[in-house]
Amino acid sequence: MRVVTIVGARPQFIKAAAVSRALEAVPEITEVMIHTGQHYDSAMSDVFFQELGLRLPAYNLGVGSGAHGMQTGRMLEQIEKVLQKEEPDYVLVYGDTNSTLAGALAAAKLHIPVAHVEAGLRSFDRQMPEELNRVVTDHLSAILFAPTNAAIENLRKEGIPELAIFQVGDVMYDALRYFRTKAQERSRILSTLDFEAGRYIVATIHRAENTDDTSRLETIVQALALLSAEISVVLPLHPRTRKILACGNLIEELPTSMRVIEPLGYLDMLMLEANARMITTDSGGVQKEAFFNGVPCVTLRDSTEWIELLDSGWNVLAPPTDVGSLMTAFRQALESTPGSDANLYGNGDAGHRIAEILLRKINQVQEPEMHTAVTCPE
Ligand code: UD1
Ligand code: UDP
Repeated sequence: MRVVTIVGARPQFIKAAAVSRALEAVPEITEVMIHTGQHYDSAMSDVFFQELGLRLPAYNLGVGSGAHGMQTGRMLEQIEKVLQKEEPDYVLVYGDTNSTLAGALAAAKLHIPVAHVEAGLRSFDRQMPEELNRVVTDHLSAILFAPTNAAIENLRKEGIPELAIFQVGDVMYDALRYFRTKAQERSRILSTLDFEAGRYIVATIHRAENTDDTSRLETIVQALALLSAEISVVLPLHPRTRKILACGNLIEELPTSMRVIEPLGYLDMLMLEANARMITTDSGGVQKEAFFNGVPCVTLRDSTEWIELLDSGWNVLAPPTDVGSLMTAFRQALESTPGSDANLYGNGDAGHRIAEILLRKINQVQEPEMHTAVTCPE
């Protein structure tokens, strides 16, 4: 029984690490991994395979960067060829990137059932490329692994059949639980940065709605620069954001009190997050990791698909429209009392549950009826 897993971007390596470990424990399942090559810098890709114990992908399509249509189209073309060769029983896709969409579409067109991990999330903002990718992927999927109750509700409202939906919890929680101790043992990031626990802020920015809007990006950078006069701020910079800041000569303008560093490996990132006084981000994954670590978070976006974090009191939305409102949100978060520590994302066994459900599904599959193929000239 073959499962082809399709990954391509940083958070997908982390999510796949949790599920691949669980799949490996099931002797009936053989997993074959395709890396689309959407992320390719060593700090955006290799480091995760090294740290997370992921086997190297059987295929690296080397698609690289480009406009959405071009990037997705190149993936689609190459994934189709691999799927025709591998003939898997299921294709497993993660999250909401262009790699997710291309993998789901290529499989669905070949009538290979798609299983979507992190199904049902919605920001209800169709300006976000991620929202388009999620909606289409969910509607192409035969199995939808939803991480939260809100995700299940969204799928129901969109008419996805109940039998296709499984609430399994969040695979990123599995990853964090599994790697937390390793991070404590191995990471030297606090001493490298000369930081003390609880005396710094971690910031990440990479979403298109912030990087590709000069006014929003400048507002974020100015607010972080102001904040860094009061408390250390570290910004592990995504290459997308670095390129745009460099292009506008904004990197040189950042105060030295703001520590702009290369993207971190997962273990260093976990360690940095766990000991931060506050986190501010536009990342999906980092919002949840703030909650898992009990660190207040200010989310630099107009909406979030992880809405339960807002109710929990650990996360607030701060659309980056002006420096004053961001500073107010930062100060409030710094002075906030701890929010609830409700168990919002399962028990850390989402990967195991996914493996079990896949195995059950594969065992249920009847032999397909044989059709006589008719060959016509082109
Ligand atoms: C993608 C996802 C986003 C996710 C993020 C995770 C889409 C549409 N977006 O955004 O949902 O949150 O990954 O990090 O799929 N670049 C490099 N080196 C790399 C990778 C990218 O220099 O290894 C630069 C290139 O200039 C590229 C830009 O970053 O054009 C954007 O990369 P891309 O993969 O298109 O989107 P992300 O912003 O990374
Ligand atoms: N991450 C990391 N190094 C960094 C920044 C983020 O390892 O320098 C991890 C982070 O801990 C989380 C995941 O990457 O597990 C989130 O990915 P990202 O923010 O790129 O994408 P998103 O979650 O927004 O899709």
